[in-house]
Amino acid sequence: MPSRKVQSYCGSKIFGVPKYVFWVLLGVAIIVIVVPVAVMFGRKKHIQKSSVLVPLYVYPDPGAWDPLYDAIEKNPTLDFTVVMNPESGPGNDSLPDSNYTSQIPRLTTYPNVVTVGYVSTNYSNRDISAVLQDIRTYAGWSGGNVTIKSLGMRGIFFDETPADYTAASGRFYGTVAAMVRSQPGFGDDPLIIHNPGVIPDPRYLSSCNQTVVFEGAYDTYQKYKMQKNITTFLSQNSKICTRDNLATIVHSMPSSVSAKGQMSLVKDLRGISRNVFVTGLSVDYYSSFWNGWEGFVQDVAAQK
Ligand SMILES: *[C@@H]1O[C@H](CO)[C@@H](O)[C@H](O)[C@H]1NC(C)=O
Ligand SMILES: *[C@@H]1O[C@H](CO)[C@@H](O)[C@H](O)[C@H]1NC(C)=O
Ligand SMILES: *[C@@H]1O[C@H](CO)[C@@H](O)[C@H](O)[C@H]1NC(C)=O
Ligand SMILES: *[C@@H]1O[C@H](CO)[C@@H](O)[C@H](O)[C@H]1NC(C)=O
Ligand SMILES: *[C@@H]1O[C@H](CO)[C@@H](O)[C@H](O)[C@H]1NC(C)=O
Ligand SMILES: *[C@@H]1O[C@H](CO)[C@@H](O)[C@H](O)[C@H]1NC(C)=O
Repeated sequence: MPSRKVQSYCGSKIFGVPKYVFWVLLGVAIIVIVVPVAVMFGRKKHIQKSSVLVPLYVYPDPGAWDPLYDAIEKNPTLDFTVVMNPESGPGNDSLPDSNYTSQIPRLTTYPNVVTVGYVSTNYSNRDISAVLQDIRTYAGWSGGNVTIKSLGMRGIFFDETPADYTAASGRFYGTVAAMVRSQPGFGDDPLIIHNPGVIPDPRYLSSCNQTVVFEGAYDTYQKYKMQKNITTFLSQNSKICTRDNLATIVHSMPSSVSAKGQMSLVKDLRGISRNVFVTGLSVDYYSSFWNGWEGFVQDVAAQK
């Protein structure tokens, strides 16, 4: 004999249809309408955030950094990672010269700017004590002299890091990373960037936050199908690395490349790396702003 509970459940109706039919219809409605809408909106949110990597090896003569200030102000929602490099490093004094100490505070005022200090490492051949001293010098910029505000760096850009792994070089980059992360002068969450300029051994990834996996000429990038190569690297290391951990630098872009061609290069780079830089200069790539700088920044800012 059926229990009363079951009888009463089967007998009840909503909007004139049996309750179970109503719930089935509601379920179908959720799957057909709500899920696709949620997926659509979810996708919109997945527009990948990109930033401009600026190797600012430009001496701050009056007006020399204006193209950078203009780009930062015109694109307040775009992030800029600026590599400071007074003397192929911080120099031997506790502070850089007065042209730097007057310009850096302006740069660090912008909320969309993160500054990192350039440190050379010569593929781990440089004396590690000199590397550690450079790190301490940059960290000291934030507090050494209270008369100079906002000179603080937020991390370090290690140049010439190796692609091939040895236990000794692994220890070298582990030690220097620990030094950066222990310095209060870089703030709560320092940014460590490695520049091997090519795809490195993935064992280096734990010693940094970002890696420049390509630094080279436009023709090299195209000829060796680097986009495909870096995509493969990402899929092979997806547990330890996403495009947010990668940066790319393309120089010597020929003037024959059209605006459309440039946009498609930038889209390519943004797909594989969070932090990107492109220049048309084919000598002294980073010591001045090229005439396409503004257009390049627009391409990075375009959320397409
Ligand atoms: C600062 O820049 C000016 C103008 O380029 C230059 O004359 C001066 O020597 C620089 N100051 C230092 C300390 O290098
Ligand atoms: C800093 O000091 C070292 C060692 O004395 C020297 O080799 C180097 O040239 C100096 N660097 C600068 C930028 O003056
Ligand atoms: C880098 O290291 C190599 C190997 O030790 C050395 O021959 C070279 O002179 C170094 N380069 C610089 C710029 O110190
Ligand atoms: C602090 O910086 C100012 C401006 O560059 C300089 O005049 C002063 O001597 C510095 N003080 C110390 C203690 O280094
Ligand atoms: C850098 O990496 C460390 C270790 O993975 C992480 O804790 C930190 O939040 C990262 N910082 C930034 C700025 O990405
Ligand atoms: C492509 O990637 C592989 C593995 O990461 C690497 O060995 C190879 O050298 C790369 N090719 C170029 C042209 O960089």
